Amino acid sequence: MGSDPGPVCQPVADGPHRSPAPGEWIALRWRGETAVQAARSLRAGAMVLLYGAIGHPAVATAARSAPLTPAERARAARYLFAANRDEFVAGRAMVRHVLGPFFGVAPGALGFDAAAFHKPRVTWPGADHVDVSLSHADGWVACALAGGCVVGVDVEPDRVLAADDRDGMARQVFAPGERAALAIAGAQADAGASLFFEIWRRKEAVLKAAGLGFSGDPAALCLARPDTRTGVAWQSTVVFAGRRWQVASVTPPGAPPMALAWSPNDPPRSRPGAA
Ligand SMILES: CC(C)(COP(=O)(O)OP(=O)(O)OC[C@H]1O[C@@H](n2cnc3c(N)ncnc32)[C@H](O)[C@@H]1OP(=O)(O)O)[C@@H](O)C(=O)NCCC(=O)NCCS
Repeated sequence: MGSDPGPVCQPVADGPHRSPAPGEWIALRWRGETAVQAARSLRAGAMVLLYGAIGHPAVATAARSAPLTPAERARAARYLFAANRDEFVAGRAMVRHVLGPFFGVAPGALGFDAAAFHKPRVTWPGADHVDVSLSHADGWVACALAGGCVVGVDVEPDRVLAADDRDGMARQVFAPGERAALAIAGAQADAGASLFFEIWRRKEAVLKAAGLGFSGDPAALCLARPDTRTGVAWQSTVVFAGRRWQVASVTPPGAPPMALAWSPNDPPRSRPGAA
C-alpha cells in the first residue's frame, strides 16, 4: 500500500514496561496493571495509546469499577445496543483509571465535559495540560492520552466495501490527492478498500485531535498522494486548522488498525511498547 516515512508502532508484546520519554509515544494493550504503569509514564510531551477489547476481563473489570457521572449514566442508558454502551463505558473507564492515579485521586472523582464540537475533556485542576481522545469500533476501545500536546485516535477495522460506496464517500470527504491515490489502488478491490480505510483512520485521527470531528473540512486535509514508485506516498506531517500535525499508523497484532495524530512542539517518536 505504499511507503510511509512516518513513525509506525512496532508489535506490542507482553514484557517489561518501558515508559515513553518526552517526545515519544507508546501503544499498550489494556490490562489492569497497564493502567497504573501508563499513568506513571504520562510525562509532558509524551503520549500513551491504550487499547483493549470489550470482552477482555481486565477491560470489563475497569468498566465495572469506574463510576459514571449521572450524565454518563443517562447517556449509557440511551444506547440502543449493549455493545455500543459497553464501548462508551469502557472508554470513560480507561481514562479515569489512568488519570485518577496520575492526579492522585480516585478514578470516580474525575469528570468529563466537552469542548466545542464534543471533543471530551477531563475536568480536574491541572487536567488542562492533558489531552484525551477516544475511539471505539467492533468491540474495541482506544484511548490516547497526551501530556502537553493535542492528540486524536481512531480505531476502525478494514471492511468489505462496494467500490461505488467507497468512491461516493471519498468524493465527500477525501482531498483530491487522496482520491487520485485511491483511483490507482481501486483497480484491485482489496487494495482499494484497505487504502480507503487507512486514509479514513488517519483523517479521522487528525480531525479528532483538532477537536473538529467532521465539522471540520475533511477534504482540506490531504494525507496521501499517488506515487509512481510505491503507489501511495503518505503525508505523515500535515498542516491543518492552523497547526502542524504528525500522523502515524498503529497496527498492533491481534487488534484492529488504528491511527494516531498529534500536534506537539516537538513531535514524539514512536517507541515499541510492551503491554
Ligand atoms: C468525532 C467523530 C469523527 C467520531 O466518529 P466515529 O467514528 O463515529 O466514532 P469514534 O468511536 O471513532 O469516536 C467517538 C469519540 O469521539 C470523541 N469525539 C466526539 N466529537 C469529537 C470531536 N469533535 N473532536 C474530538 N473527539 C470527538 C468522543 O470521545 C467519542 O467517544 P465517546 O462519545 O465515547 O466519548 C464524529 O462523531 C464527528 O464528526 N462528530 C462531530 C459531531 C459534531 O461536530 N456535531 C456538531 C453537531 S451540533
